[in-house]
Amino acid sequence: MSTFVETSSPDAEPILELVDVRAGYGSIEVLHGVTLTVNRGEVLALLGPNGGGKSTSLKVCSGLLEITTGDVRLAGRSVLGVSADKLARLGLCTIPEGRGVFPNLTVRENLMMCTHTGAKLDDIEAIAYDRFPRLGERRGQLAGTMSGGEQQMLAMARALSTNPAVLLLDELSMGLAPLIVGRLYEIVAQVAATGVSVLVVEQFARTVLGIADRAAIMLHGKITRVGPPDELAEELSSAYLGGKGQS
Ligand SMILES: Nc1ncnc2c1ncn2[C@@H]1O[C@H](COP(=O)(O)OP(=O)(O)O)[C@@H](O)[C@H]1O
Ligand SMILES: [Mg+2]
Repeated sequence: MSTFVETSSPDAEPILELVDVRAGYGSIEVLHGVTLTVNRGEVLALLGPNGGGKSTSLKVCSGLLEITTGDVRLAGRSVLGVSADKLARLGLCTIPEGRGVFPNLTVRENLMMCTHTGAKLDDIEAIAYDRFPRLGERRGQLAGTMSGGEQQMLAMARALSTNPAVLLLDELSMGLAPLIVGRLYEIVAQVAATGVSVLVVEQFARTVLGIADRAAIMLHGKITRVGPPDELAEELSSAYLGGKGQS
């Protein structure tokens, strides 16, 4: 019997794939042949400057935007034409840019909105407050009156209550202090450790590289590089300097 270490990890099984995807808005193409794979149980960081097509890629993944050519696969099967709703039921969960909480509802009411998935509110609350004690303290508070970090925690609690297989996060760090961002990413890492596959989009948050298994850089609607996070950190800086004018 061989005792050699396997060269390819047994975990390197694609859960979510974009294959040579072209997509855009009206006649304007934004994604010019994007190929990207998220493996089961990994955290993949998709980074790059504003306007590069990161959010558009997430919209394609979650079934919110139709593609012109290429393929989108979930667990090896093409999901072209499958509705966003159906994809959500299959375990694909997105926290959109800007958090997606209801500002005029309390924390508890926001969590209540997740019960359509069939889970009991008591269970959803118990899990949410256990992971984010802060939300427990504020269960009666209107979400819109909480800090940005707390709102992001609520968005994550809502997302996790659906027990997702794949979590898509769009600019979690936006407008938040580095300390808070670090804490949120610790939680993302904990979630990933339970087997959830995560695709995290950020413009330029080095914090995310600390928890990512792999990273990809997206520029002008194309993936320009995929590799180990530490190797990409440096390239990221030059992508910013070369990718657009400095302001
Ligand atoms: N709803 C939309 N309608 C038309 N153009 C859009 C829309 N959303 C984004 N775009 C354009 O698509 C390009 C990529 O945007 P986006 O995917 O949001 O980039 P990123 O998330 O990397 O900042 C930009 O040029 C943007 O102006
Ligand atoms: Mg974006």
